[in-house]
Amino acid sequence: MSATVWFLTSNQGKLDEAAHHFSEVGMEVRALSVDSGVVVEPQAEDLETVARAKIQQALKHLPEGETTVMVEDAGLFIDALGGFPGVYSAYVHDTIGNLGIVRLLHHLTSEDPVRAKRLRAASFQAVAVLWDGHQLIVGKGVCRGSIASDAQGENGFGYDPIFIPADLDEDGASLDPETLGVVSTHGRTFGSVDVSEKHLFSHRRRAIEDLVRQMPQLNAGE
Ligand code: IMP
Repeated sequence: MSATVWFLTSNQGKLDEAAHHFSEVGMEVRALSVDSGVVVEPQAEDLETVARAKIQQALKHLPEGETTVMVEDAGLFIDALGGFPGVYSAYVHDTIGNLGIVRLLHHLTSEDPVRAKRLRAASFQAVAVLWDGHQLIVGKGVCRGSIASDAQGENGFGYDPIFIPADLDEDGASLDPETLGVVSTHGRTFGSVDVSEKHLFSHRRRAIEDLVRQMPQLNAGE
């Protein structure tokens, strides 16, 4: 397998995060750019179906001599809205945006911060699919958290300014709102922390780690 992962994305934020995650296993990530509209995103009910459909199309655009291509699909799933916007996250972000989501949850509030976090619970979910030249590998990652009462911070992209990740325990597992963790943004949104701090919580990192665990070439020495 070549040491370059060609990542089908035009999102610089996603590219930066993936580059950060793959550098830890000595792999480079480059953007696989195709003209908009060439790769069609099917409307499906789950992220994995969308990602699998996209990788079949991405393969046709791999540069000559290259073998490894990845697509990744992610979304914001809000508990109180039955998982909405989920697979519709991109459309909802383009239409009502972060302000629209904050308004949708406006009534879900409490003076008790723990209860407020429970009412506004949400998760980022990511599915990364990689073709390594021989096989298709699927990695999944979830980041639990809650929706802030307003947008905070300029970092990251998409829903980052309204998402507060749940604290993590020493093993990196998300904790309930009443438990203080060893890793915490102390109530700050992903928009208010830098990429290396988001990395500690990231659904994308978890999906890529899940992928890497399944890549026989990278685990051959185990
Ligand atoms: P995509 O289809 O995976 O590109 O993402 C769907 C929507 O979710 C887009 O509006 C993204 O901006 C948003 N999104 C995906 N991942 C993240 C993230 O890590 N932070 C914030 N928003 C995200």
